[in-house]
Amino acid sequence: MNNFIFENDTKVYFGKGCVKEYLSSVLSHYGKTVMLAYGGEAIKRNGIYDEIVEALTAAKKTIVEFSGIMANPTYAKVLEGAALAREKGVDFILGVGGGSVMDCCKAVSLAARYEGDIWNDFWERAGIVDFEPLPLGFVVTVTGTGSECNGGAVITNEERKIKTGRDYPACNAKFAMLDPVYTMTVPLRQTISGGFDILSHIMETYFSEPNEDNVSDNISEALMKSVIHNLREVIKNPKDYTARSNLMWAATMAENRIIKLGKRCDFQCHQMEHQLGAYTDCNHGEGLAVLHPIYYRHIYKDGLPKFIRFAENVWNIPREGMSDEELAQSGVESLAMFIAEIGLPTTLTELGITDEALLGEVADSCNIAPGSYKKMTAEEIRQILKESI
Ligand code: NZQ
Ligand code: ZN
Repeated sequence: MNNFIFENDTKVYFGKGCVKEYLSSVLSHYGKTVMLAYGGEAIKRNGIYDEIVEALTAAKKTIVEFSGIMANPTYAKVLEGAALAREKGVDFILGVGGGSVMDCCKAVSLAARYEGDIWNDFWERAGIVDFEPLPLGFVVTVTGTGSECNGGAVITNEERKIKTGRDYPACNAKFAMLDPVYTMTVPLRQTISGGFDILSHIMETYFSEPNEDNVSDNISEALMKSVIHNLREVIKNPKDYTARSNLMWAATMAENRIIKLGKRCDFQCHQMEHQLGAYTDCNHGEGLAVLHPIYYRHIYKDGLPKFIRFAENVWNIPREGMSDEELAQSGVESLAMFIAEIGLPTTLTELGITDEALLGEVADSCNIAPGSYKKMTAEEIRQILKESI
């Protein structure tokens, strides 16, 4: 194992009924004026909103509503939330939703306590948080990003056409409540794309140095098998509590920093998808599903030992006379087949993205990650996006 320091300040409450049981008493430790932040109508339709308001009322909080947080939250929305938090004297933010709500809340928590331009000082470049952001708590209602247990926030600056994420441990929520029953009303399409986002986070971590035996890669293999199995189960039965709960915890495990310990990590696919999102507002998990197999066809030869492990340990492919390259490639093709099997898009055309010139712009705007097995060139990124059509 490589050296590491591990810290995660978020307390997790997990399981059926956890919000009803704990939220009100947990809130008593925090401020009087609570910003209740959420997205659209989903939590009102399924009754989650009423449960949250009941808990806030029981805890005698003044509620300041901040709603309409969109998928792929924008910097403009962050500024709106920060202005509201200042105007109403908010001293705690409770985000109820998925990655978009949680990420927006984290950025609001910084912006509400910062005088300068948070985009310039914290997203365009990495900043130093030498002040206390507004404290946060989350109730997760859709599984995928794992944003509940890290300081990461992915924000889109529409004017500059940049979607980018930063991870500030000071933005870790004080607590996160995860009731898998809450996710049962999530439409299957979002369930599947969120599920693929989990797999993507694990793969972006797994396919990186070091290659020698390490606990992080072993945990990653177990998680990938669990996500693949439980995605198949939840498609068969969207009300399957076992599948919903495993997916929910796998999402957190993928992004609570544990599997990244001692790893270099890649996240080049995320860099490409984020810019695709900045230009087209496409769904995060669906964009990733299109890009991953194409990206891996470009890099597997450079990370052969890990791609062989992936084929053998995750997809149970027997070697049966295959060369190293053939075996590694068969793992990537199994991933591609799984993506098609669960109904995710395999081309950008299926997402309505067909404009080659636009994709050229997307490619030119992408961050090139230091990479792990292979650092991409700008030309390769252009090529991958072109092949994705
Ligand atoms: O708009 P509403 O009505 O609220 O509906 C939401 C939204 O349409 C719906 N939903 C939420 N809970 C529901 C529900 N529908 C029915 N029943 C429920 N219980 O779900 C839809 C999607 O929500 P969203 O938060 O956008 O999805 P997700 O969790 O996939 O978040 C995506 C965002 O997170 C970023 C992505 O780039 C994207 O902006 N990411 C954040 C990361 C992080 N902070 O660590 C890492 C990821 O790689 C990712 O980049
Ligand atoms: Zn992701």
